[in-house]
Order: sequence, then C-alpha cells, then structure tokens
Amino acid sequence: MNPVILITGATRGIGFAAAKQLAARSTQVIIASRDGTRASEAAARVGSGAVGVALDITDQASVQATVKQIEQQFGRLDVLANNSAILLDHYQSLLDLKPEVLLETLNTNVVGTLRVSQAFAPLLAKSATPRIINVSSGAGQLDGEPQAWAPAYCISKTALNMLTQQLTAALPEVMVNSMCPGWCRTEMGGSEAPRTPEEGADTLTWLALDAPHTLRGKFIKDRTVIPW
Ligand SMILES: NC(=O)c1ccc[n+]([C@@H]2O[C@H](COP(=O)([O-])OP(=O)(O)OC[C@H]3O[C@@H](n4cnc5c(N)ncnc54)[C@H](OP(=O)(O)O)[C@@H]3O)[C@@H](O)[C@H]2O)c1
Repeated sequence: MNPVILITGATRGIGFAAAKQLAARSTQVIIASRDGTRASEAAARVGSGAVGVALDITDQASVQATVKQIEQQFGRLDVLANNSAILLDHYQSLLDLKPEVLLETLNTNVVGTLRVSQAFAPLLAKSATPRIINVSSGAGQLDGEPQAWAPAYCISKTALNMLTQQLTAALPEVMVNSMCPGWCRTEMGGSEAPRTPEEGADTLTWLALDAPHTLRGKFIKDRTVIPW
C-alpha cells in the first residue's frame, strides 16, 4: 500500500517541493491549502495521483472537514507533515512587537499544528508506521547566541519544538520529529536565501519515507539530529 501523506500549506515553497519529491516515490500525496482550488491546481502540477484539499489550520471546522474527507477517501493517514506557518514580523524589534502579532503567529504556527495533530491522531493510528513531521526552523533553536530577528516567529518555532516533544510523549506509536529546512528561496525565505525549496524539502522527504521509525522526538536538519 502506498503511504498516504498529507502536507499542509503545500501549494508553494518547501511544501510543494516535498510534494513533488514524495509523489515521485509512488506515494499518495495530499496537498492542503486554505484555498481548495489552489490545492487542486498544485496537485495537478505534481501529478502521480496527488490530490488537493482545503485546510485552514486555524479553523477547527475546516480541520474536521478535512479529516472526514481523507478518512472517506483513504481510510488512514501514514504521514502528517505540518508545514504551514506564517512569518509576520521579519525585522521587527521585540520592543516594538505588538502582542496581537505574537498571538496570531502562535495561533497558526503552534496552536494550528496542535489542532491538526490532534484531529488526525485517529487516522494516524490506523497506519502501521505513522509519522508526524513538524517543519520548524533553526530560528527557534535555544542553542547558540541570542538573535534579534523576527521575535514572534522565533518564539513560535521554539514552542513548536516543545510541541514535538509533547506529541512524542503523547503518541508513543507515532514517530514525531521537528525539522529545519535551512534558509530557502521561497515566499517566506526571500530571494537571497542560499538553498532551493527542493534542498529544504529533502529532510522532510527523508523523514517521511526513509528515516528509521525509531528516530523520535528529535530536531533534524540535513538528515542529522541537531540541538534544540
Ligand atoms: N523558507 C525558509 O527559509 C524557511 C526556513 C526555516 C523554516 N521554514 C519553514 O518551512 C515551512 C514552509 O515554509 P516556506 O518557506 O515554504 O513558506 P511559504 O512559501 O510562505 O509557505 C507557507 C504555507 O503556509 C500556509 N499557511 C499559512 N497560514 C495557514 C493556515 N492558517 N492554514 C493552513 N495553511 C497556512 C500557506 O498556504 P496557503 O496560503 O495555500 O493556505 C503557505 O503556502 C514553514 O513552516 C516555515 O516556517 C522555512
């Protein structure tokens, strides 16, 4: 049976690159976007039977509807790739950061990821080798010198990493990890970034299909465990 893989926020950037890599490996890719039409168009570009679904990770009803749709169509989920995120405060100083911006960022990057993971847990439980991949960022790493860039985004990715650890403890049968794609040329990463989206997606694809199921509760970049 081909692995059934859901990638959130996958109509562009790293998610779309991962969708192409995974579809080329004979998997059933499901591309999610807040805009169902864009999701279907992206799935058509990927080919290999990929399908698109509408999913807003900040909206409980949207998440429930997507769970129902995937349950009816595929009966299970093997890999949940939580790739969706927002970056609203690029070069803002923490001292100027509006609490609403932090709340909105946390609501998507952390609460949204939790909501999707909770909702898909029953479908993941129907898989023989269930996996959750949280696309985090080195920007959330506590290791190293303090940095002043994008505080809301960085705080959200640190919280996402703890969510990965909490999910690992809560879901003993599921292989849950955080990963960092590196700085990639996407809408979020900008044109100056040194990596292609495909290079950023490589670790996601590896975690989805090739990494041993015993690799759990880790933070991974370039297929290698890195410090939190
Ligand atoms: N690019 C980098 O250099 C870099 C570095 C480190 C980590 N990352 C991480 O890698 C992941 C992908 O980033 P990217 O660079 O490919 O970014 P991107 O091109 O901006 O893609 C992010 C996606 O998130 C989706 N999204 C935003 N809000 C959503 C919501 N409420 N519900 C569902 N989906 C939502 C958007 O999809 P729709 O608009 O279609 O809904 C969008 O396609 C993110 O988690 C990011 O933090 C990126």
